[in-house]
Amino acid sequence: MPHPPRQRILITGASSGLGAGMARRFAARGRDLALVARRLDLLDALRGELLAAHPGIRVVTAELDVDDAAAVDEVVPALARDLGGLDRFVANAGIGKGASVGTGQGWANRATLFTNVLGTHAQCEAAVTLFREQGHGHLVLISSVASIRGMRGTRTAYGASKAALNALAEGIRSDLLGTGIRVTTVLPGYIETDLNVGRRGPLTVDLDTGVDALVAAIEREPVRAYVPEWPWRPVAGLLRALPLPLVRRLT
Ligand SMILES: NC(=O)c1ccc[n+]([C@@H]2O[C@H](COP(=O)([O-])OP(=O)(O)OC[C@H]3O[C@@H](n4cnc5c(N)ncnc54)[C@H](OP(=O)(O)O)[C@@H]3O)[C@@H](O)[C@H]2O)c1
Repeated sequence: MPHPPRQRILITGASSGLGAGMARRFAARGRDLALVARRLDLLDALRGELLAAHPGIRVVTAELDVDDAAAVDEVVPALARDLGGLDRFVANAGIGKGASVGTGQGWANRATLFTNVLGTHAQCEAAVTLFREQGHGHLVLISSVASIRGMRGTRTAYGASKAALNALAEGIRSDLLGTGIRVTTVLPGYIETDLNVGRRGPLTVDLDTGVDALVAAIEREPVRAYVPEWPWRPVAGLLRALPLPLVRRLT
């Protein structure tokens, strides 16, 4: 079913990388934005840039640590009030720390699991509460192709955290089938950002290419999107089918 443009969009993790890139693309499409992250100075600089380039839009910002569920419950409705409601919520904030399990870096794996799973869960609670009250909305969870199979080394906890998001999104979608609320799971491949400095694979695309594909996918509002679709949809299919020793060599 066609849907009206999502005018009022909240993006978490908007201070850098994909979040800031999405903010720039949606602003260019005339959308109103609520931008959150921990680094408020970066958000406010981005706000200034966006309003200078697109004076007709509204941009509100707030400092938010998604690890703090009580703060998420407070900040999300406050920003929604500022914009007069929310039409789309992009749960994008995430980290990619980690090391092989059992090598003394449990703290890094725990941090990744905490922010990516519990932080995103907190965002979903706040967003879906609002969407249920409104009767409509588009929830977008930024997962990863690293969720498709168990990954070694730095990506073990990260991949596990993103696999949890896939199940979280599907459960929410199942609850909301037949309502005016849609849920999209996005699985980006490798896109150049601060998250993956020093560990980019051969299929990595630059930030502009990745963000263009990301925003195009979100606007289509599918159940699941790979970003960029080529080569990641077929690669994802291959990864699902391959035996673990081959997956290990490829990832
Ligand atoms: N780049 C890729 O290839 C790729 C691939 C698959 C999935 N992803 C996912 O895409 C999302 C964005 O990552 P990115 O690549 O754009 O990396 P990035 O440039 O490092 O951006 C991560 C964003 O998340 C925010 N963030 C981290 N922890 C947070 C917290 N506790 N509370 C609030 N905000 C927090 C950061 O803001 P502050 O530090 O200011 O809080 C930052 O804006 C992540 O979920 C990542 O897993 C990326």
